[in-house]
Amino acid sequence: MEDLDQTFIQAPEHRADSNSIPNQPEEIPVIDLSRLNDPEDIQNVISEIGDACETWGFFQVINHGVPCDARKRVEETVKIFFDLPMEEKIKVKRDEVNPAGYHDGEHTKNVRDWKEVFDIYFKDPMVMPSSTDPEDEGLRVVYNKWPQFPSDFREACQEYAGHAEKLAFRLLELISLSLGLPKERFHDYFKEQMSFFRINRYPPCPRPDLALGVGHHKDADVISLLAQDEVGGLQISRRSDGVWFPIRPVPNALVINIGNCMEVWTNDKYWSAEHRVVVNSTRERYSIPFFLLPSHNVEVKPLEELLSPENPPRYKGYKYGKFYVSRNRSDFKKLEIQNIQIDDFKVVT
Ligand code: OGA
Ligand code: NI
Repeated sequence: MEDLDQTFIQAPEHRADSNSIPNQPEEIPVIDLSRLNDPEDIQNVISEIGDACETWGFFQVINHGVPCDARKRVEETVKIFFDLPMEEKIKVKRDEVNPAGYHDGEHTKNVRDWKEVFDIYFKDPMVMPSSTDPEDEGLRVVYNKWPQFPSDFREACQEYAGHAEKLAFRLLELISLSLGLPKERFHDYFKEQMSFFRINRYPPCPRPDLALGVGHHKDADVISLLAQDEVGGLQISRRSDGVWFPIRPVPNALVINIGNCMEVWTNDKYWSAEHRVVVNSTRERYSIPFFLLPSHNVEVKPLEELLSPENPPRYKGYKYGKFYVSRNRSDFKKLEIQNIQIDDFKVVT
């Protein structure tokens, strides 16, 4: 048995074998978006998406319009980058001022993840608050970091991101319709969107029983669109009982999940599910999540039109940019206490 650095070891209740059903036959829905070309089927697709957001907080889409070649190109070029010696990779390392770039020591809930990542903003430059202090209105402008080699890395990433963002807004419109809201209800929140996408590489791990690729977490965004290869490892916690079960890799599908902002906007109607990544001892795995984030100055709070005397707001509002920079702090180092979570904004009843 190989030793594993202490920083990677999950508490027993969070390990891969805890509370999970590996052969769970039940599955999150796989929705074929080409059905939107049939006017008679559009409403069915919208209600299937709504049901999935409510029951699971997760679904998969196929025929979604993001070309499979664009994803493969990112995977191939980034693999060349990840295989470079560490002294090359750290030339584009992310830091506490600018979260873009390469990183290999991310922490989720104060335990280190078994992965390497590369983060890229959709908008370059991107504007974010310069500090976590709520009184400080200062802003910071940050730029993507691009490696010199491989030379087509930047182009491959930008091409993929363009497609992913387009699909993210299409899905946002469908989600909006599923709530009985106008199609473009959310659009104003994205004028200075902080969206980014990430390339995750999970190397083979000597102790997959003790470490996780990503520890259990909810995504802090609006929605996430995840491309994954055929290896598998993503697990979600079921809304009804918290049991963990795997998301089956479907060729060329994208896994879509609801993030904290959508959960708050819908006052908990739509569910932001906890998820995690289990690693294995033989095969490396790649995934590419695109995280749709609102502008830094958006105050995220339950939408008025979804509230009623029977359904009072369950969250206090919060400024998105401040939440984002506070969350980012814990990615870099082990904090003594759990970092800010969405439940900190719950209204106590
Ligand atoms: C994430 C995430 C899942 C995966 O990066 O937030 O949940 O399968 N990734 O890589
Ligand atoms: Ni996630």
